Amino acid sequence: MARADLILNLVRAAARGDRAQVQKTVEALAADERAKNHGILADRLIAQLQQDSNGRPRPPASPPARPLSGPLVAEITPGRRVEDLVLAAETEQSVRELVEEQHRADLLRSHNLEPRNRVLLAGPPGNGKTSLAEAIADALNIPFLVVRYEAIIGSYLGETAQRIGQVFEHARSRECVLFFDEFDAVGKERGDLHETGEIKRVVSSLLLQIDALPSYVVVVTASNHPELLDRAVWRRFQIRLELPMPKQSQIEEWFRRFEARTGHTLGLSPRNLAQNLKGLSFAEIEDFGSDVLRRVTLSDSETDAKKIAGQCLNQWRIRFTLKNPDSSGKDK
Ligand SMILES: Nc1ncnc2c1ncn2[C@@H]1O[C@H](COP(=O)(O)OP(=O)(O)OP(=O)(O)O)[C@@H](O)[C@H]1O
Ligand SMILES: [Mg+2]
Repeated sequence: MARADLILNLVRAAARGDRAQVQKTVEALAADERAKNHGILADRLIAQLQQDSNGRPRPPASPPARPLSGPLVAEITPGRRVEDLVLAAETEQSVRELVEEQHRADLLRSHNLEPRNRVLLAGPPGNGKTSLAEAIADALNIPFLVVRYEAIIGSYLGETAQRIGQVFEHARSRECVLFFDEFDAVGKERGDLHETGEIKRVVSSLLLQIDALPSYVVVVTASNHPELLDRAVWRRFQIRLELPMPKQSQIEEWFRRFEARTGHTLGLSPRNLAQNLKGLSFAEIEDFGSDVLRRVTLSDSETDAKKIAGQCLNQWRIRFTLKNPDSSGKDK
């Protein structure tokens, strides 16, 4: 929580129209937040300030400039927003609840309750697991820490568990989203770990550490193969969300938003495109949209858009059939 005296000062200065005092107070707020390790919020306060006083547009939400916070985790300033993703209504609702519980944790704690902080995202590749994890960090305004398995899986006995310990120690030092992508991979890594039986110890140490995390650390794990995770893993996660392949209506929605965002139409209506592209993942839909847009941009005029979209659809049909030979005529 920001300091009450600074908030009061800010309101007074704004009410008086005293821009210099507003600037000073926001800078003090930012410094205060930075001292509490809330670097992202501090950056945003300063960015907002620059926009207000100079009339310049806000800098992009995800500047890549943040240094890694260590070799074991990559710290990423979240740039994705929940509203950027096309999600099932229940999924969106669960995310909103999580965010509200975290934001109003003080109230919950005053009633002896803790906000939920363990989330499992499951679903086939390219349908938003990583994006949603990042968007959760954005909605909470806290850093997004991505665990780098390649750095934590060591070859000596005991080394991996020790590094996992370091990751958790680092994470629990402030509010953050700690993201374990491809969670099922931990159980599959390194044949030699399997041979010594160490992998079992690694997984159980990981689970114990997840349990022991304070509730201000939100752990998000993602898996393409949730069936590989045993019940002990599932049990840990209070929020389990599935991000399946998009329905036709969601693809249509995606194209509507794409047109609004880019200011371009793609030659065919969102409904028509969605009918033709069902069965593709969101990542593939996004690739298709970019394909058409690139070619429309390079063509002489937008009147060609319909033809271009038709050609791209043909290419994508071939690509989809190659990827998925049993799919021809299959209605998903
Ligand atoms: N629900 C969605 N709404 C809008 N765009 C999406 C959605 N899901 C995925 N995308 C887009 O597809 C791309 C890939 O998504 P993302 O990396 O989050 O998928 P993933 O489920 O983590 O895939 P993988 O299992 O391969 O890691 C992103 O660039 C994102 O913009
Ligand atoms: Mg991913």
